[in-house]
Amino acid sequence: MTRSMHNWDDETDLFSHSVIGYAIERLRTPKDKRWGAHPAEELHAAIEHAITPNGSGGLEALRLFRDVLMPACRPMDDAMNLAYVPTAPSIASTMFDLVVSASSIFGGNWEAGAGAIAAENQALRWLADLAGFPASAGGVFVSGGSAANLSALVTAREVYRERHGRSDRLTIAATDEVHASVRAAAKVMDVDVLPVPTDERGRLTATALRTALDSDAGKASHVFAVVATGGTTNAGAIDELDGIADVCAERELWMHVDGAYGLAALCSEVARERFHGIERADSFGVDPHKWLFAPYDCAALVYRDPAPAASTHAQHGAYLDAVNRGEWNPSDYAYHLSRRARGLPLWFGLVTYGTRAYTEAVDKAITTAREFADAVEARPGFTLLLQPELSVVLFTANGWTRDQYLEWSQRRAREGSWLVVPTTWRGEPCLRICLVHPHTTGEALAGLLDDLASYRKP
Ligand SMILES: Cc1ncc(COP(=O)(O)O)c(C=O)c1O
Repeated sequence: MTRSMHNWDDETDLFSHSVIGYAIERLRTPKDKRWGAHPAEELHAAIEHAITPNGSGGLEALRLFRDVLMPACRPMDDAMNLAYVPTAPSIASTMFDLVVSASSIFGGNWEAGAGAIAAENQALRWLADLAGFPASAGGVFVSGGSAANLSALVTAREVYRERHGRSDRLTIAATDEVHASVRAAAKVMDVDVLPVPTDERGRLTATALRTALDSDAGKASHVFAVVATGGTTNAGAIDELDGIADVCAERELWMHVDGAYGLAALCSEVARERFHGIERADSFGVDPHKWLFAPYDCAALVYRDPAPAASTHAQHGAYLDAVNRGEWNPSDYAYHLSRRARGLPLWFGLVTYGTRAYTEAVDKAITTAREFADAVEARPGFTLLLQPELSVVLFTANGWTRDQYLEWSQRRAREGSWLVVPTTWRGEPCLRICLVHPHTTGEALAGLLDDLASYRKP
């Protein structure tokens, strides 16, 4: 007999409670830090017969997920996960994400999702206010920083074309430290990137930007946008936003600030001032799934003036003519149509805990990073490569090669003690930690230095 997908029977009732119970347990119990990738053949074999014509029931699907699949996924929200940019979603925002799924909200236009969109816009307004954007600013939650960068840059190109007409090749000015997604966006858009050198701290400065734009390559290249970064991924550096805004204003260039990781610190008391000039940007992106305690996938894209974004991205077609364009339709502000109301978990977290909790949690990571940097400087055998501006710290265990870092990193990941992966700074191998979880303590990080100091390759 075919199982019914839409009727509520006793079996459905049982597995539904089991699923919710599992979600609660997943949040309540400490993560197993040894979880991580298993070989593909092993996983494929374990679930080889999972999809069958008659189905195996929800309890069996949950068992496979819990016992086979989840142990093969890294716990990204563990406080000792210091690699890449981790995540630390709050309990309320994660639980509410389940509700968003259960609610089947179409978040694309006001007519279908007004209640959800009103709340999302309130969360966007909080971010716009922190950035000092005007009351007329607005935007949309998209899937990630990559999607935010692409949608903002496509809008910037349309604005340039409106002003200057079409030209063969167009160009984005950006540094090498810009996130890979900006180069990926340029590829999708078939535009070029004018490389701008960074200063010794890895920052884009107004002087370097002017020089690049005035160079022969710069003059020949029809630059339409500058991408500045509010917290580079590799080093946590904040570009010289105010000076960059001067250059963009002088030359009528769109200024986009990629703050996927770092602009969370707009809510910080200790770091807010470091973003001086953000209020003059044309657009910015920040990922609540990185450092604003929301679950994947959630990135806020905010435009100073949303009107050009709407004329760039709004999709039209016979069946869409009924959409009231006088309302706020989130579909119109990025490259997408159907969308999950993915800003709702952030909103729920903000309402539940209040903005002060966000300030304190972000400040905690920044302070802990500062303390760790001091500890590195004070320890013989280690070198701090950069004073941290946010919560990324780059350092070396003196004399270690890239292979030694890798060997140590992989061993510790397997054992489940730390997740710290090597990177490079100015071409040299080094270690990098990125803090977002308020439970990552200075004491634990002192243990990391002890471990490195006493580590001998077995
Ligand atoms: C500065 C920056 N921009 C963009 C991205 C891409 O974001 P996402 O992975 O959400 O697409 C990242 C990811 O780490 C980032 O750090």
